[in-house]
Amino acid sequence: MSTLAVYPGSFDPLTNGHVDIIERGARLFDRIIVAILVNAEKSPLFTMAERVEIARKVFTDHPNVEVDTFEGLLVDYVAKRQANVIVRGLRAVSDFEYEFQMALMNRRLNSKIETVFMMPAEQYSYISSRLIKEVFALGGRVHGLVPELVETRLREKRAVRM
Ligand SMILES: Nc1ncnc2c1ncn2[C@@H]1O[C@H](COP(=O)(O)OP(=O)(O)OP(=O)(O)O)[C@@H](O)[C@H]1O
Ligand SMILES: [Mg+2]
Repeated sequence: MSTLAVYPGSFDPLTNGHVDIIERGARLFDRIIVAILVNAEKSPLFTMAERVEIARKVFTDHPNVEVDTFEGLLVDYVAKRQANVIVRGLRAVSDFEYEFQMALMNRRLNSKIETVFMMPAEQYSYISSRLIKEVFALGGRVHGLVPELVETRLREKRAVRM
């Protein structure tokens, strides 16, 4: 039996924390689908198409990493893709309560799907998309915290807005 994992999130934008978790997942599972949630936030910085394009480019050399989008219930999407694992990243205790609730709710909705938590390398354990956007908007340096392509795209957004 092959294990197909789904890593859901909004990835607005993809950070090196996400990349770290995806790479770990790609080593652990036969295949991992980065599933970008449609409409997670009403006004995202990056459009769906931009987020998909960025993730596909960053993982172009990883044949077992797929990038897709989904809406609605996560467990329905996971079942539709015939996957058996949900991957989530855990940064700190602050992530735990919400993730714990979601994992148990998802298990109640579909007991065949298992949620697996992974910890990123320490240097990425404080990164969130929200913090990256905040720091960048205020002129701070995000080099090393996001893939180079994301840095480029952030700069392009700033140029357009000014
Ligand atoms: N730096 C990180 N290290 C490990 N896991 C992470 C990291 N950032 C996000 N994750 C995990 O990735 C998954 C998708 O998260 P999400 O798309 O919400 O990213 P986020 O950085 O938390 O964005 P936001 O700040 O908009 O909430 C979640 O399981 C989240 O805990
Ligand atoms: Mg989050």
